[in-house]
Amino acid sequence: MGCTGNNATPPSPGIAPGADSIDTAAVARLFQMDPRIPALAPGFDAPFFQAGLAGYSDAAMRIIARRFGCPFCVTEALLDRTLLAGGRGFAKADLGELHDNVPGGEEDHPLAGQIMGSDPDEMARAAEKMVRWNATHAPDGAAFQAIDVNLACPVKKIRTKARGGHWLRDPEGAIEILQAVRDAVPEHIPVTLKIRRGSDDSPEAERNFYVLFDAAYELGCAWATVHGRTVEQKYVGPSRWTFLRDLVKARPDRIIFGSGDVWNVHEIFRMIEYTGVHAVSVARGCIGNPWIFRQARQMLAGDAPTAPTLTEQRDALEQHFELSVAVNGEYKASYVMRKFGVRFAQHHPNHDAVRKGFIAVNSIEDWRAVLDENYGAADELGEMSAPISQLVSS
Ligand SMILES: Cc1cc2nc3c(=O)[nH]c(=O)nc-3n(C[C@H](O)[C@H](O)[C@H](O)COP(=O)(O)O)c2cc1C
Repeated sequence: MGCTGNNATPPSPGIAPGADSIDTAAVARLFQMDPRIPALAPGFDAPFFQAGLAGYSDAAMRIIARRFGCPFCVTEALLDRTLLAGGRGFAKADLGELHDNVPGGEEDHPLAGQIMGSDPDEMARAAEKMVRWNATHAPDGAAFQAIDVNLACPVKKIRTKARGGHWLRDPEGAIEILQAVRDAVPEHIPVTLKIRRGSDDSPEAERNFYVLFDAAYELGCAWATVHGRTVEQKYVGPSRWTFLRDLVKARPDRIIFGSGDVWNVHEIFRMIEYTGVHAVSVARGCIGNPWIFRQARQMLAGDAPTAPTLTEQRDALEQHFELSVAVNGEYKASYVMRKFGVRFAQHHPNHDAVRKGFIAVNSIEDWRAVLDENYGAADELGEMSAPISQLVSS
């Protein structure tokens, strides 16, 4: 597990006065994708993607998201040294696991590999290694379609070692890292960055943000994903969408992606309309909710978003479990899937009971029992689902 955070669903939306009245159906129907994005990452054809989520976004979660329409995914943050050491020696360091960053085969494209570190030379060597990984693991050179540099992680243990969110206090140092990584990665592979709106709420933090942001594009970075919380905020309190809106207005030529407080499909299109970002990073809002991507595709096509039936829920849970076993092995999959089950349960009409069932899972047998008990015979339950209003307000 790496750049971890609070994964609980908060009650309030981001700071975005007036955003509630946006007609998201109209925004989606009329949306035009910026052609620069699929040109940079072929296949990235819709304005949303699955964020890096340490402890969750392994190949299994990414493939499930893609099966429901997600066009692009980012791996969790991987420490450069873990990558350079081949995953050895850092098991107890609470940093990204090499394992969770391995591309999941043909279905797992396009994919950005995210790295985090403190030394420009090591970061450059780690980026090179990811690029070489392309050649080793996918003969067509397509294992990673972008290298994403994490300058956002707020975890104390990471920051105090001058990694992740630390760099928002030291833009000059961050620029050296970006320069080294950009130089090391072949030109046709985009280098991108994950950043927060500042280290804290001070004017100096905002100045640092802009110094770093502007330099990144001048160095040739393709896009920045900007999380509208400060590093100090971690995951608490709202993501400030007004900051994202002002940034897009101030830098209209830049490709900018937005992150923070995207809990349901309407918030994808609300963020696009309110802030003007080119694409939206879906993070906690897609844990146990791959249907957010299907719903976003439905809305782009001018259709109403549909909630998953119980049959669809069971099918997705089974697919996710099967993929997790393939990625993690049976033993690990049964406890990894416990935390996903808890989140999938939000779609079930008896969500509290189902959630409790998943919490108690210790084995594959337990997992199957929860499915059989609550998701029953598919033909009996096929048409039942939680009302979309429940999902939208969750
Ligand atoms: C459990 C957890 C793990 C995360 N891990 C990463 C990570 O490895 N890399 C990254 O760029 N962001 C990571 N994030 C941040 C998210 O990508 C996202 O920016 C943040 O959760 C804000 O979006 P949200 O409010 O819509 O969830 C993580 C967040 C959480 C909650």
